[in-house]
Formats: sequence, structure tokens, C-alpha cells
Amino acid sequence: MTENKNHERSAVSVIGLGQMGTRLAQAFLTVGHTTTVWNRTVAKADALVAQGAVRAATADAAIAASPLIVVSLPDYTTMQDLLGPVARSLRGRTLANLTSGTPEEAARMADWAAGHGADYLDGAAMSGTRLVGRPEALFVFSGSPEAFATHRSVLASLGNSMHLGADPALAPVYDTALFGLAWGALAGFYHAVALVGAAGVDPADFAAVATGHMPFVTSLMADHARQIEDGRFPDDDGTVEVHAAAMEHLVQTSRAQGIGTDVPKLIKALLDRAAATGHGTSGIASVIETITKGERNV
Ligand SMILES: NC(=O)c1ccc[n+]([C@@H]2O[C@H](COP(=O)([O-])OP(=O)(O)OC[C@H]3O[C@@H](n4cnc5c(N)ncnc54)[C@H](OP(=O)(O)O)[C@@H]3O)[C@@H](O)[C@H]2O)c1
Repeated sequence: MTENKNHERSAVSVIGLGQMGTRLAQAFLTVGHTTTVWNRTVAKADALVAQGAVRAATADAAIAASPLIVVSLPDYTTMQDLLGPVARSLRGRTLANLTSGTPEEAARMADWAAGHGADYLDGAAMSGTRLVGRPEALFVFSGSPEAFATHRSVLASLGNSMHLGADPALAPVYDTALFGLAWGALAGFYHAVALVGAAGVDPADFAAVATGHMPFVTSLMADHARQIEDGRFPDDDGTVEVHAAAMEHLVQTSRAQGIGTDVPKLIKALLDRAAATGHGTSGIASVIETITKGERNV
């Protein structure tokens, strides 16, 4: 076990050792935290115990072992069923819940934890399992700021652990928003790979060029966020009409190559709706209004 001198050693318990929970426990162990683990199927803890984890005989014992309890289960119902009977043990501890769910479930869970005298952090693992423990693995948390401050260094063992605010619902809101962002980018990537593939380009060769192009795309976000806040959409990055025409070229080129047009058509439809509501000569960030108004805008 390697001990990272940047992390203060502490005690943490992990409940639920599926794909995610196992990686969480490994990350805590790697940094040198005393890591207690519990899983319904006992054998799944064996490898972690061999790496230095402490096996708890029950979920109750896992809770009693540490001031910070990290839970990774399939859903909130499973978590509630499991923790309900042992809730009294949570008093005075922090429950950090990395189970995926909705903002409403997070708010209810925070109330439930408070009712049992526990601090609550809702969280989401944004970078899959492979990067857990590396600085680029994003973990978002929301809920008790005091609990996050207390356990910041332990949670930092997981990667780039950010606190978004006191509202426990923020973590699942970011979770779904960032998931949609990643899929928007990936849908564009898959379409692009199909398009250049039709011209005989190797996916890996294209990926190298595309990766080099992404900093330009991400550089637009801060500028466009400011435009959205100001409600003013200068055309420095092109107008809605110009982008709609370019997107139509992509639709036609895709059709000519015999590949699907779903992705560019979706974007073209958004641009067309923005133009129809008077934003044809506005900058492209004005599409936010089309999205925000949703069906009311049609
Ligand atoms: N895997 C990912 O890439 C990823 C990425 C981001 C977020 N997440 C989130 O992380 C959470 C866990 O996902 P996962 O991929 O680790 O799932 P998983 O591999 O299917 O593991 C599920 C875990 O929950 C336990 N479990 C299921 N039902 C239970 C019950 N009734 N009582 C007690 N324990 C029970 C399982 O125990 P047994 O071993 O006994 O079956 C196992 O430890 C989910 O909310 C998921 O959305 C996962």
C-alpha cells in the first residue's frame, strides 16, 4: 500500500462493493486510510481485505467503525432498506451517498439522515470506475458544507472531489446535466467517426485530431455562459443562420455518404427553432432560449 503524504490518514467505511464501491474502497486504501468494508455477498470483500481493508461482519458494524460512511448501491430504495434498520448507528456520523438517483430522492435522504442525527452529503461519480483515485476523476458532492470540510481530505482520495453547495439535490442535478453534456459530445464524436469512416479514415486517427480540437470547443463555454447570464448574444462565433446552413451541409453530406442524419438533424432543428423566434442573426448561444422555453417556444 502506498501512502500519499498529501492526505491525512483517517477512517472511512464503504458499504456496497460492486464495480464502483470496490474502486472507491481501493482509492481510500491506496492513500492509507483505515478502510472498513461491507458487502451483501461477503466474498466480494476478499480482494480488498487482502489489500488491507477491514471486513465488517454487518452493515451496522461498518457504520460503527468510521466517522465517514460512503455508500454505493444500485438505488435509493435499496439503500433505504439496508440502512433503515441500522439508522440509529448513523448518529454523529456523515453519510456520503454515491448511489445514483434523482434530486427528490437526495432531498428526502438528507431529511431522513438529519432525522437520525447524521450529516448528509449526496454525491455522484462522474468519470466511471477506471479513473477513480486519479486527480482527473470528477466527484461532485452537495449537502452539509461542514461535513464536506471535515471529510474533504478523505474524499479527495477519490479524485477531483468538488462541493457544489448546501442543497443536497445539486449533486444529482449536476450528475444528469454532466451526463447529458458528455453524451452530446460523444454523439457528435460517433457521428463524426461514421462520416470520416465513410471516407476511409481510421477512427483512431480521427480521434487524435478531434482531441486536439476539443480545447477550442470547451473554450467557448465560459464566454457563452457569460452571454447567457447577460441575455446578450453577440455573433463573434457565428450567427444562428450561418451555423444552421453549415449544419444543413452536414446533413446532406451524411446522407450522401449513406450514414445516419439523426445527430446533425437534432442540432439543425434547434438552430431552426432559434431562428424562427427571431434569433437568426444572434450568436449561437441564443439557442439556450429555445431549449429553456422548451415546447412553449414551438
Ligand atoms: N459502475 C459505474 O461505472 C458507475 C459510474 C457512476 C455511478 N455509478 C453508480 O454507482 C452505484 C453502484 O453501481 P455499481 O456499478 O457498483 O453496481 P454493481 O456493480 O451492480 O454493484 C451493486 C452493489 O450493490 C449491492 N446490492 C444490490 N442489491 C442489494 C441489496 N438488496 N442489499 C445489499 N446490497 C445490495 C451489490 O451487492 P452484491 O455484491 O451482494 O450483489 C453490489 O455491492 C449505482 O448507483 C451506479 O449508478 C456507477
